[in-house]
Amino acid sequence: MFPLSDYLDAAVRAAHAGAAILQQHRTSPNDLVIDHKGRNDLVSQADRESEDVVIDMLRQATPHIGIIGEESGGARGAELTWYIDPLDGTTNYLHGVEHYAVSIGLVAHAGASDAMGNPLAVDTPILGVIYDPNREEMFTGMHGVGAWCNGHRIQAARIESLAEALIAIGIPMRDFSYIDPYFVALKEVLLHSRGVRRQGSAALDLAWVACGRVNAYWEQGIQSWDVAAGTVIAREAGAWVNDPYDPKASWPESGRVLAIPPALKDEFLGLIQPAMMPVFNR
Ligand code: IPD
Ligand code: CA
Repeated sequence: MFPLSDYLDAAVRAAHAGAAILQQHRTSPNDLVIDHKGRNDLVSQADRESEDVVIDMLRQATPHIGIIGEESGGARGAELTWYIDPLDGTTNYLHGVEHYAVSIGLVAHAGASDAMGNPLAVDTPILGVIYDPNREEMFTGMHGVGAWCNGHRIQAARIESLAEALIAIGIPMRDFSYIDPYFVALKEVLLHSRGVRRQGSAALDLAWVACGRVNAYWEQGIQSWDVAAGTVIAREAGAWVNDPYDPKASWPESGRVLAIPPALKDEFLGLIQPAMMPVFNR
C-alpha cells in the first residue's frame, strides 16, 4: 500500500517550488537562455531550473520512486514513476501568455497495489498535481479518492449533448504528417459542438475538463508527462480519459488523448475516428 497522501504533499511542495522559479524568471524574460529542441519545440532556462528543483525535492522525499522528466529524461521505477512537466505551455510562457503550469503525475505500474491494497492489473495514474501559478490554482487528484482545486472538490460538467460542449484542442505544431485527416476530424468537431479553444497547455486543458470550464479535451502528438497528472485529476472528476485510437491503452501514455464525459464519448469518437484511425492504427 502506498502512503498516497505523503506523496501528494511532496508533489504539491515540489510544484510550488518549480512554479516559484517560473515566476521569478517572468520578471526578466529577455535574460532567459532559450534553446530549440526541434521545430516549434522550445526549452528555456526556466523549464530546466524548474525541473531540477522538482526532481531534487521528489528524489529526497521519495527516493524509491522512478522519475521521468520532460527535460532530463530518467527511468521508470519498478512499481511507481513520477512524470514531470516542469513548464507545460512553454510557448505561452515565452510569449508572455499567462497560461501555463507545473504538472506532476504519479503512475503505478501493473502488479503494484493501489492505495487500498488492491493489485493493479494495468499501469494506472494514481496521483496528479497541476499548479497554475498565474491563477494560483492547485489541481489535485487521487485515484479512487477524488479531485480538487485549491482543496475544493471538482467535477466535470454534466452535460448530455455535444451541441452544448466547449472543446479544448491542441492543433498539431510539430508533426504535420497527419494534418489533412486532422482537419477533416476537426471540421466534424466544429460542426457538432459549441466551439473549440486552443489554449496551449495540455495539463491545464485536462484540469479545466475536471472543473467543468471546458467539456472535453482532444489532442495527439504530445507526451506522457503532459498528461499523466491531468489523467487522474480528470478521471476522478468523472471524465473518461484515454487514447481515443487504442481501446487497449490503460492511460494516454502515447500522447494521444481524449478527455470527455462518458455520456458524450461515443458520439465524439464517431466524429474523429473515421479520419484519424487510419493514421494512428495502421
Ligand atoms: C505543450 C503543451 C501544448 C501542446 C503541445 C505540448 P510544452 O507542452 O501542452 O498545449 O499542444 O503539444 O507539447 O512543450 O509546453 O511542455
Ligand atoms: Ca509539456
